[in-house]
Amino acid sequence: MGPDFLGGAEVITIKDLTKRYPNGFEALKGVNLSVKKGEIHSIVGENGAGKTTLMNIIFGLIKPTTGSISVDDKEVNISSTGKAIEMGIGMVHQHFMIVPNLSVMENVVLGSEKDFTNFFGKIDYKSIKLKVGDLIKKLKLSLSPEDIVRDLPIGKQQLVEILKVLYKGPEIIILDEPTAVLVPTEVNDFLDFVINLKNEGKTVIFISHRLKEVFKISDSITVLRNGKTVGSYSKQDITRDEVANLMIGKKFDFNATPPKNEKEEILFSVDDLSLKGMMIKNISFNIKKGEILGVAGVEGNGQEDLFSVLTGDILPEQGSVKLADKELNKSTILEKRKAGIAYITDDRIKNGLAIDRSILENGIAYHHKDQRFGKVLINNKNSVKLVTGIVEDYDVRGVKNMKTPVSSLSGGNMQKLLVGRELNNQVKLLIASQPTSGVDIAAKALIHDSFKELTVEGNSVLLISSDLDELMSISNRIIVLYRGKIVAEFKYPDYDIKELSYYMTGLKES
Ligand SMILES: Nc1ncnc2c1ncn2[C@@H]1O[C@H](COP(=O)(O)OP(=O)(O)OP(=O)(O)O)[C@@H](O)[C@H]1O
Ligand SMILES: [Mg+2]
Repeated sequence: MGPDFLGGAEVITIKDLTKRYPNGFEALKGVNLSVKKGEIHSIVGENGAGKTTLMNIIFGLIKPTTGSISVDDKEVNISSTGKAIEMGIGMVHQHFMIVPNLSVMENVVLGSEKDFTNFFGKIDYKSIKLKVGDLIKKLKLSLSPEDIVRDLPIGKQQLVEILKVLYKGPEIIILDEPTAVLVPTEVNDFLDFVINLKNEGKTVIFISHRLKEVFKISDSITVLRNGKTVGSYSKQDITRDEVANLMIGKKFDFNATPPKNEKEEILFSVDDLSLKGMMIKNISFNIKKGEILGVAGVEGNGQEDLFSVLTGDILPEQGSVKLADKELNKSTILEKRKAGIAYITDDRIKNGLAIDRSILENGIAYHHKDQRFGKVLINNKNSVKLVTGIVEDYDVRGVKNMKTPVSSLSGGNMQKLLVGRELNNQVKLLIASQPTSGVDIAAKALIHDSFKELTVEGNSVLLISSDLDELMSISNRIIVLYRGKIVAEFKYPDYDIKELSYYMTGLKES
């Protein structure tokens, strides 16, 4: 079955779709989309553009307000996810939906265990294992049916999500930011996997903020801005820069460089740090005043431990950590914050924000121990003013009012709120871990600019990221972590992707 997307039949046609959420927010204001059989069709757009909303409608999770959807040229009413699955549509969600405590195979058959009841009315796990094992083999995934999901690295959990969707045999597969949680090596394998789906005749709708990926695999690209379709294009007819400009509605500068605010004086020093039972071994480094120091490394090489010990309550077994000559080795989180350390965690939903609480409450968290707000937290004019400022400065979109729960913000907008809150304190050192994951290019530039801004007054940033392009575009210096050790150091402008990757993957050692 060779895909013929140029003349291929339309499998999904969407006309003038709008969506107003119950709180009155208009997320879609007129979307048109036509997806052809057997193509990979990417949907791109800024955070909050409406991508997930549109996909949730196609998958029957939420209902549109007006407009029409046709599948195989027949107008349909996708009133539930069950209906969508019947029509051959499957969706891998932006945030994980799998159950951590269950095994891979239990997750895959969850909800359809009935198909496996044996003569005695018991669930026949042997045949589940066989069937799921066969599918894993067919898809060439490195998973085992009995693995417990919780114990798998994030990249593999993502594969379980996909397995679960493909198990139902969909013809149209929606992938909402599937690569956001993957490291560079995993991304390439994953993109090959998606291309394979297409080669088998499946239709794929793919969402990603990384235009490099989009251009690698797509046949067509549709740009959404502010809830409207800006246009749909064949990949050959458009460039990466043009797509970026269409997404944000203005010209975008791709040539960012690190700031030049570095001074001689050392602000932060880590000396011979080791952690019991953790990865980190004999780590030493300094950060100068006004410097941005990047930490490169494939996930799982000690970044998480380094982040936890520098920001949290974990006491190192040996070594010292000093901020402006003050020993912080034995300090609590609160003491570290008071000393001027702010941090951005890589898991905004688990650790960074309380997503069921309001934007106001989240925006003032950690500020409220300040004198500025007195005793009464909410309804306090000052706190409203502070958080309104954050929302404006960091361009947090989708805020109906201060009481809007954070859970109704799009992923990227949650991240902007978190960054804004952290940088609103008196910050001497910002420790940021994957600060722009799931963030669009304009917001990414905004976050990077705010980091650079911090260095103007001689404050510094420790940036832990698995995104090499990000590291190279704003760090004054980059150190590479491999198996818990610093194995290399590079200084701007002597950055070389190949050289960095060699150290990151252990092909080269210091
Ligand atoms: N349940 C909801 N109630 C009210 N507003 C919502 C709700 N869900 C989403 N929104 C708003 O609708 C807009 C579109 O959100 P959506 O999640 O579709 O964006 P997105 O393009 O997927 O963004 P991202 O790239 O950040 O994932 C956002 O401004 C968001 O705040
Ligand atoms: Mg989304």
